[in-house]
Amino acid sequence: MSSESTGEGATVAIDWPALRSAAQAAARSAYAPYSRLQVGAAGLVMGGSAGGTARGAEGEGRIIVGCNVENASYGLTLCAECGLVSALHASGGGTLVGLSVVAGDGAPLEPCGRCRQLLLEHGGPGLLLDADGGPVEIGALLPSAFTGSDLAARRDAGD
Ligand code: THU
Repeated sequence: MSSESTGEGATVAIDWPALRSAAQAAARSAYAPYSRLQVGAAGLVMGGSAGGTARGAEGEGRIIVGCNVENASYGLTLCAECGLVSALHASGGGTLVGLSVVAGDGAPLEPCGRCRQLLLEHGGPGLLLDADGGPVEIGALLPSAFTGSDLAARRDAGD
């Protein structure tokens, strides 16, 4: 267990070994017959509604998981992080504050570029990612990111 700043003034306790082992368990459910690289992701979520199966209590958090799902049409492959983001919303939403992504060997794997963009929207630049040398903020891995605020700021006048 360690206490980390979320980058938004809040401090949250993140049990990194628990997150990593939840990610490793999720990796065992991966459907990856083509690459044979099983990937699992586990995230700590704060907030969100208490509906469905989510506990959603501020200060407590809940863990959600995802695994990669491949397809014979290779380009349709869903990364583990895609499944995790779907699970986030399906279980009541909220904000991702910590994330561990591992391959089947249990070692951390840094999200691909597409997934960095996907995750940023649900955790903000302060989202902490598990890494060999200690947690890193996603904002450091995706600097100058395109976000929803760019849409409003750059939209054609008159729209
Ligand atoms: N993969 C993920 O699940 N997440 C990543 O961030 C990187 C790649 C999966 C997709 C594919 O099923 C396999 O790893 C090989 O690229």
